[in-house]
Amino acid sequence: MRIRKAVFPVAGLGTRFLPATKASPKEMLPVVDKPLIQYAVQEAISAGADELIFITGRSKNSIMDHFDKAYELEAELEAKGKTKLLELVQDVLPRGVNCIFIRQSEALGLGHAVLCAQPAVGDEDFSVILADDLIDGRLRPCLAQMQRVYQEFGTSVIAAQRVPHEQTGSYGIVEVEPVGPRLGEIRSIVEKPKPEDAPSDLAVVGRYILTPRIFKLLQATQRGAGGEIQLTDAISAMIQEQTVLAYEFEGTRYDCGSKLGYLKANVEYALKHEEFADEFRAYLTRRVGEWSHVAQTQQAALHQ
Ligand code: UTP
Repeated sequence: MRIRKAVFPVAGLGTRFLPATKASPKEMLPVVDKPLIQYAVQEAISAGADELIFITGRSKNSIMDHFDKAYELEAELEAKGKTKLLELVQDVLPRGVNCIFIRQSEALGLGHAVLCAQPAVGDEDFSVILADDLIDGRLRPCLAQMQRVYQEFGTSVIAAQRVPHEQTGSYGIVEVEPVGPRLGEIRSIVEKPKPEDAPSDLAVVGRYILTPRIFKLLQATQRGAGGEIQLTDAISAMIQEQTVLAYEFEGTRYDCGSKLGYLKANVEYALKHEEFADEFRAYLTRRVGEWSHVAQTQQAALHQ
């Protein structure tokens, strides 16, 4: 019951992150020293995947290059005896893991991107990871947590998270019937509802384990919200036929598709980085001290 195939839709336009994403993909934005897509790939591999399927679009060649062997760079690092750096470069894609790249010719939506993976996925259960949702799993990576649920129930599992009620319009929102701790069977799912129409505050985030039935349902899905073929709409059809579970993962998610979420991720990951966590913490502490001093001075001036 291992999910071998992981799909990475990376063909979105990334408009929330312009101008950085004008000519390069948002999935290549680094959080501290690794691009987002590398965190996503590592998460999939740690959950047992050995076939990585990237759904790419225009200006996404750097993703392909990142997971390709860099002969000249490796030879150079080896010649200079820079073994640690050489290992870093070689570890980007462990041995025995294969990459497949499929082109989504037009950004017709996440549902359409997932449908593009059908020829490579075939008739197997598979996972989907959205690299711009960076998840720092508490005890184990989010997908590995979901894999445990999948092993127990053998059905589709979708990662979910409670969000502030006023933010439901930014997410797919599910209504569930509780099945166990952190686990519910999805009864309804709706894409980006206004807070007054939202069935709950439980939002779908970028990790899915799906059965191949989703492909048939995606083929029949019409363009929905935003004129895009929505994965949410196909999942809504799937819950009429099969059990689909929503799992509230343990950990913290950073929306790295937004500039603020991305900045927060950088701060948090820098504070954990083995090379300079202490130095960075000292820097932040000093800066915070300076800001509060300025705030106090302004406050005092106001009261004079
Ligand atoms: P988003 O909703 O974040 O859209 O896509 P986006 O285009 O990437 O970014 P914004 O909203 O314009 O800033 C969620 C995921 O689905 C992929 C994206 O690459 C991202 O990982 N996606 C989206 C595709 O692969 N193809 C699409 O047609 C749309």
